[in-house]
Amino acid sequence: MSYVIKPLTESGFTKSSLRKLSFDCGNAADEQELAIYFKRYALTNDQSGCAKTFVAITDDLQVLGYYTLSASLIDLPELFRKEAKLPDYPSPVVLIGKLAVCKSCQGKGIGQALMRDAFLRILETAKNIGVCGIRIDPSNQIKQGYYIQKCGFIPFDETLSVYLPIETVREALR
Ligand SMILES: CC(C)(COP(=O)(O)OP(=O)(O)OC[C@H]1O[C@@H](n2cnc3c(N)ncnc32)[C@H](O)[C@@H]1OP(=O)(O)O)[C@@H](O)C(=O)NCCC(=O)NCCS
Repeated sequence: MSYVIKPLTESGFTKSSLRKLSFDCGNAADEQELAIYFKRYALTNDQSGCAKTFVAITDDLQVLGYYTLSASLIDLPELFRKEAKLPDYPSPVVLIGKLAVCKSCQGKGIGQALMRDAFLRILETAKNIGVCGIRIDPSNQIKQGYYIQKCGFIPFDETLSVYLPIETVREALR
């Protein structure tokens, strides 16, 4: 399947065309929320600067998946901070707030391609703004498993949140 990954704002969609779009990433409540977010709120939040959205899209404007990036903070436990030589207060990270692939395209590597695209963009950002890693706040343990097993993220406290140091991101793309 041929597709490109680009900013939502460069995809040609308007708020009204996004609302009419068919995008289904699963039946669970949190999966439905990911589809609703994309169709109703992604463009507004992109324009306001809350979260930038990037889409995997075909030539005929079929959306295969999307992810969002926002600035965030992480309060890592002392052990992690010491290891990464981070100061004794919350550190700047990029939050991958959403990641979803349409149901009919799951399991074909699009999730991994979206993550790689996110890593590249985050590394570019980290050239100009302090970014010590990536944070994701998965909605359940199964989703947390995807980030840990497939993407190398690390759980760092008693929540479901996971973290990837920027140096690991850099190495992953070398
Ligand atoms: C999770 C999701 C983004 C993955 O995208 P995808 O395109 O289906 O995944 P890929 O094809 O890139 O990767 C598939 C691989 O991940 C593995 N995988 C998928 N879900 C997994 C999980 N929860 N835990 C561990 N591994 C998982 C598959 O077994 C497969 O492994 P393989 O490459 O060794 O065969 C997608 O399934 C999705 O959108 N799900 C619904 C929404 C969602 O859960 N979003 C995520 C986070 S909140």
